[in-house]
Amino acid sequence: MNALSLNHVRVLLGGQPVLSDVSLTVGAGQFVGVLGPNGAGKSTLMRVLLGLVKPVHGTLRVLEAPVARGNAMVGYMPQTRALDTLSRLRGYDFVACAVNGHRWGMFRLSRATRREVDWAVGVVGADELAKRPLAELSGGERQRLLLAQALVGRPRLLLLDEPLAGLDPRYQNTVVDLVAHVRRELGATVLFSAHHITPLLGVLDQVLYMGRGRAVLGSVDEVITGPVLSHLYGTPVDVVRLGDRIFVMAGNAPAEDAHHVHDA
Ligand SMILES: Nc1ncnc2c1ncn2[C@@H]1O[C@H](COP(=O)(O)OP(=O)(O)OP(=O)(O)O)[C@@H](O)[C@H]1O
Ligand SMILES: [Mg+2]
Repeated sequence: MNALSLNHVRVLLGGQPVLSDVSLTVGAGQFVGVLGPNGAGKSTLMRVLLGLVKPVHGTLRVLEAPVARGNAMVGYMPQTRALDTLSRLRGYDFVACAVNGHRWGMFRLSRATRREVDWAVGVVGADELAKRPLAELSGGERQRLLLAQALVGRPRLLLLDEPLAGLDPRYQNTVVDLVAHVRRELGATVLFSAHHITPLLGVLDQVLYMGRGRAVLGSVDEVITGPVLSHLYGTPVDVVRLGDRIFVMAGNAPAEDAHHVHDA
């Protein structure tokens, strides 16, 4: 079974192509690292898979079905996390929002919902954190609850948009291990976007590297190469391996954060 199949998908935003012509197939259960510079279309791709952005051309299927908004089989951790307005909530109630369709505030949880939320909170090891108000939690601790929220309903596909943003290297590893654990627990397919590949090297099956409206999917050795990345960045790129770390360099600078590339 395929978790995703995209066939010549073209997406315009503000009249500009963000995805020019993307075709790819991801098998069920794969852990896919989604890489690429700022503006490459990583978040847009996830929004397309959620049915929030419609392609102008091409076809796509998610979990062997047409894209449907609000598909309970798809869990999503968005990149933009406006948590401040929610911060008076206890962590537990925040996770439960996923079930109650964001009608947070006063609500009673059914026994089934409570069981589901308990499970999600338990999987990410946040039983104690969940008792505290979000306002009191650190960024990394909130990240854990956001992941729990994406897990509610036990999705078959997890779209995690930059779960490592703002985390220190040690905590990055904790979150990566957590997602790997969750994937095994659920048997789910994971799309995990990030700016650096190194933290994901131990867990990913495939890399989806995006740039200039294009996307290349394959193993690390197939995709993280000078020629492939130079093509995606539209500028000469070197790949430097240092022990178990990989750096993508354009000129003297790390390329992964520095460039904002657009399709011409
Ligand atoms: N609503 C919109 N209207 C017009 N352009 C948009 C809109 N949303 C996104 N874009 C543009 O689409 C491109 C891709 O954006 P996207 O957020 O998918 O990139 P990204 O790869 O997730 O980048 P980052 O690493 O910064 O998160 C960007 O150039 C962005 O400015
Ligand atoms: Mg993004």
